[in-house]
Formats: sequence, C-alpha cells, structure tokens
Amino acid sequence: MTDTAPPKTLWLGRWGFVLAATGSSVGLGNIWKFPYMTGEYGGGAFVLVYLLCIAAIGVPVMMAEIALGRRGRGSPVDAIRRVARESGRSGLWSAFGWMAMLCGFMVLSFYVVVAGWSVSYLWKAVTGGLQADSVDGMAAIFADNNANPWNLGFWSTLVTIATMAIVGKGVQAGIERSVRWMMPGLVVMLAIMIVYALFSGGFGAGFHFLFAFDPQKLTGPAVLAAMGHAFFTLSLASGAILTYGAYLPAQQSIGRTTLTVALCDTLVALMAGLAIFPVIFANGMDPASGPGLIFMSLPLAFAQMPFGGVVEVVFFLMLAVAALTSAISMIEATVAWLNQSHGIARRQAAWGVGIVLWLVSTLAMLSFNIGADWTLAGKTVFDWLDFLTSRLMMPLGGLGTALLAGFVLRREVVREELGLPGGAFALWQFVIRYVSPLAILVVFLDALGWLGA
Ligand code: PHE
Ligand code: NA
Repeated sequence: MTDTAPPKTLWLGRWGFVLAATGSSVGLGNIWKFPYMTGEYGGGAFVLVYLLCIAAIGVPVMMAEIALGRRGRGSPVDAIRRVARESGRSGLWSAFGWMAMLCGFMVLSFYVVVAGWSVSYLWKAVTGGLQADSVDGMAAIFADNNANPWNLGFWSTLVTIATMAIVGKGVQAGIERSVRWMMPGLVVMLAIMIVYALFSGGFGAGFHFLFAFDPQKLTGPAVLAAMGHAFFTLSLASGAILTYGAYLPAQQSIGRTTLTVALCDTLVALMAGLAIFPVIFANGMDPASGPGLIFMSLPLAFAQMPFGGVVEVVFFLMLAVAALTSAISMIEATVAWLNQSHGIARRQAAWGVGIVLWLVSTLAMLSFNIGADWTLAGKTVFDWLDFLTSRLMMPLGGLGTALLAGFVLRREVVREELGLPGGAFALWQFVIRYVSPLAILVVFLDALGWLGA
C-alpha cells in the first residue's frame, strides 16, 4: 500500500480555511433544501431538532473531521489510514474514508441539477423570463424548465464543467476570493428580502411556521431527516471538510474555526427561512410543495417588490456562486485522492471524475422529465441519491468520525490537534464519545422502526 507524502499546499491567508469551509457549507442546502424540508416536515419541530443536531452532533463532528484531516494530511482514505495506524489501529478504518468520498460524489450528482436550476433562473432573471403574477404561473415556469431534458441537461452540464474546471486548477485562490464577497452579499440579499417580507404580509405566519414547536410533528422519519440535514448543511461525512482540513496550517484553532462556520451556516439557513415562508403564506402556497419550493415562490416576491428585478438577478447570482463553492468541495476529496495516491495530474483526475459524474447526474436530471417514472419504492434517481446520502451515509459516516476521534485516536493526539483548554476538551470528548454516537444511533434505529414506534 502506498503511503504518500502530505500535500504541500496550504490555505493562503489566515482566513483561508474559514472562507473555504464556509463556502462549502453555505450553499443550496441552506437556501433550497432547508426551506423545502422544513415545509415538508411541518415547520418548527423540524427546525428545533435540526438546531439541536447542529449543536450536539454537527459541531463536535466537524471539529473531529478537521482534526482527522489535518493530522492525516491527505484525502479521506489516506488521512484516516494514516491516523489509525499512527495510533496502532487497523487501516481498515479508512473504509469510512471510502464511504465519504462516494458520498461526496453522490451528493454532487444531484446537486448539479439543483445548481442548474439556479443558473437557469439567473439567466431567466436577466432575460426577463420570470414574469408571472400567480403561484400557478410560477409553477408553470418551473415545470417548463424541467420538461425538456436538453434544456435542463444543458444547465446541469454547465455546472458540472465549471466545477471540474475549478477543481482541476486547484481550489485555493479562487474559493478564497469568491467567498469573501459571496457570503456578505448573500446575507445582504436575504436581509433585503426579510425586510420586504415584514411589510408585505405573511411574515407572522412564516415566523410562526418556522419557530412554533408542535411535538406531534416529531415523527421518527422527521427527526432522521433533520439530523441528516444537519450533516448535509455542514458538509460533513462527505470528504469535503476533512480534505479542506488537510490544508489547514498547524497553528490555527479548530474550535473557533468550526464555530464560525457553523454559525454562518445556521444564520443563512434561518434567514432563508424568514425570507421565504412569508412569501409562501402571503401567496397561499403549500409549504410542502417539494424541491421546487423556492423557485416557485421567490420570483413572485421579486415581481412585487421595488427594484425587484435587480434584487432577483443579484440573488440568483449569489445562489449560483454559493452552489459552486459547495460543489467544488464535494469532489475535491476524490480528485485529491487520485492525485496524491495515484499520481494522476489534477486536471486529468478532474476531467476523468467529471465524465462519470456527468453520466450519473444526467440520470438524476432525467428524474424531472423522461425519467420521472423510473422509480424504485416510489423514489426517482434524484430522490435516491439524496435519500441514500443524507439519511444513510452521512449519519453512518458521522458515527465513524465520532468513534475514530473519540476512541481510536490516542487522547494526546486529538488533544494536541484540537488545542482546546482543559474543560472544553473534556466536554468535547464526552460529547464525541457518548452523546453524538448515541444520538445518531437512536435516531437512526428509531426511524427504521427497530425501537418500536
Ligand atoms: N453543505 C452544502 C450545502 O449546504 C452541501 C454539501 C454537502 C457540500 C456535502 C459538501 C459536501 O449546500
Ligand atoms: Na449548508
């Protein structure tokens, strides 16, 4: 087995890693997926469980992943093998690295379709193609955009090419620069939309939907969905954060970094919810409208607000950039692995992976037109890619990360990597050893119905 030298590239500036990890985590998960899942699972209860999962599982697991990446200095497979061996344990733990890379690939295969929606909406916004004055009109625009596989495939292919081109060049400089204006830009856009919502009616209903806690909605599947989404939104268990952590300079604080990223991510998700649900209620739309939710609702608000045309263009531009900085991170692990362990040049690795990715993502894209009834247990290819990753692979991968960091690695090693003050380290260790793994297991088994309903 080849053990390769650690990569020499590190993030450029002091904020390099924070920017890149924020770029990875803030994305369609926050603005597209969080609202539509909240809508589907009935609002406040889902949101509350999601927030609890971020705090009790997401943050400690993210710290563990960054520590694993930095200690192992490599792609998930190599880094995990290296740290496990260093602690005198079996290299077989690297199976979690394989699963993470596969998971990142699978997420990207359906993510490019949604990113394609975003870019096509940017194009429509620029060319005046989003003119409709009713929910039905907007739904028709969304359906039209999906109906023709050549049209939809064009946009997802464009996103695939852009992603692979950037990853092929090496990720650092471009990401650091684009996140620096994308993040504040996105927050400003959402703030504008929230202010508009405050004056346009529907704000109270939206707020209530997001934050009113109804214990009846706490079903096993809803709780698993919320936990899975906590992993998804923080880019965990998919190779992204671990691989970025491999480029983190030794002296930077993992604890502070993680908190910054998690706070930004949560802020953007909640702001997105506050911007979107008022529009939905003000226009009498069903919050459980599924993956098209933001595309069918937001343009209505833009059509009504002053300077809406400009806001709309800027918003979809920000959304596309946010999607791209996330997309890049999903495939960085695989490309880094081909590069470091197999000596394949980055560019070739990226295009090679890109071709396979394009094939799978095309199947996902067809789920919205000619492949709409290629279903298994009622789920399309698109649905399966989403379901398998966020309900199965991410929770399992998170469990693996927690066990690795909590029990496999030697205590001194983890301690040195995290560099937390004594009390904080003890708390983190308790959570990563017992709280996170047990929570993941219970939620998982409960949703499967093994613990009885
Ligand atoms: N966190 C990203 C988002 O919220 C999605 C993502 C998942 C990115 C997995 C990387 C890895 O959009
Ligand atoms: Na996110």
